[in-house]
Amino acid sequence: MSVYPIILSQADFTNRDSLTYPFEERGLQFGDGIYEVIRIYQGAYYLITEHVNRLFRSAEAIKIDLPFSRQEITSLLHDLLSQNEMTSDGIVYLQATRGSAPRNHAFPVDTPANVYAYVQDMPRKTKNLTNGVSAITKRDTRWENCYIKSLNLLPNVLAKQAAQENGSYEAILERDGKVTECSSSNVYLVKDGKIYTHPATNRILHGCVRMRVEQFAAGLNIPFVEQAFSIEDIADADEVFLSSSTSEVMPIVEVDGKKIAEGIPGKTTQMLQEAYEVDAGLVKQRI
Ligand SMILES: Cc1ncc(COP(=O)(O)O)c(C=O)c1O
Repeated sequence: MSVYPIILSQADFTNRDSLTYPFEERGLQFGDGIYEVIRIYQGAYYLITEHVNRLFRSAEAIKIDLPFSRQEITSLLHDLLSQNEMTSDGIVYLQATRGSAPRNHAFPVDTPANVYAYVQDMPRKTKNLTNGVSAITKRDTRWENCYIKSLNLLPNVLAKQAAQENGSYEAILERDGKVTECSSSNVYLVKDGKIYTHPATNRILHGCVRMRVEQFAAGLNIPFVEQAFSIEDIADADEVFLSSSTSEVMPIVEVDGKKIAEGIPGKTTQMLQEAYEVDAGLVKQRI
């Protein structure tokens, strides 16, 4: 794994060790900021336009004034990869906060946003993509505006930790009797040839890969039904899978210790995985 020394800080490039923030920083003290994680394959971005668009939607929703246009940040993100001579599979983490100011809940005036982005390697999870993963279920205790990709991730962190302590990959979240999404991914159920998932309301993050899954399903003539399912429905599912920029289209073969159907990745999930690989320009790497 390489360490990439150059980071983006505001509109400049600097060494990763030289970036420091005062302790009175809105992201640090209030989680008052937003972020994106963008997939990189072989040194090239996947779905960068979708991520940049969502960054701007999140910023607008919480009234953070971003110091660049969509085109400017896209160009800076491309420069970040070339400055680091990045050619492998990885991610960029990009964060924008309401800036540095004396602690006070209300917005500071005349305070520029703090923005940074860095690159890191992240190989594809080929074993999990081939064999599938297990999940647990947890209550969704997050706020009402989960469509905003905010830094406030404590419920997500606790749910993921509970999954890990259980030896599972993800936590499937349930609110008011309906499955919303997972701690860091969207989730889907396949039944009788149809894909079901929670509608893209304020209760879930509108995943960039989710948008693609909907398109792949259309291309494959598989009905994509934006209708939430329940934890009880999972027991009867033909297939369950999740999606995210870091997990791609990942089969879930066991939930709360019970196998989904035969306990192996299903055909619909595999077709979507193939569509993903074609779309992302990947050579077949799953084993
Ligand atoms: C809560 C949550 N839902 C869904 C996703 C999937 O989003 P994307 O497909 O844009 O990576 C993520 C990704 O981090 C997430 O944190």
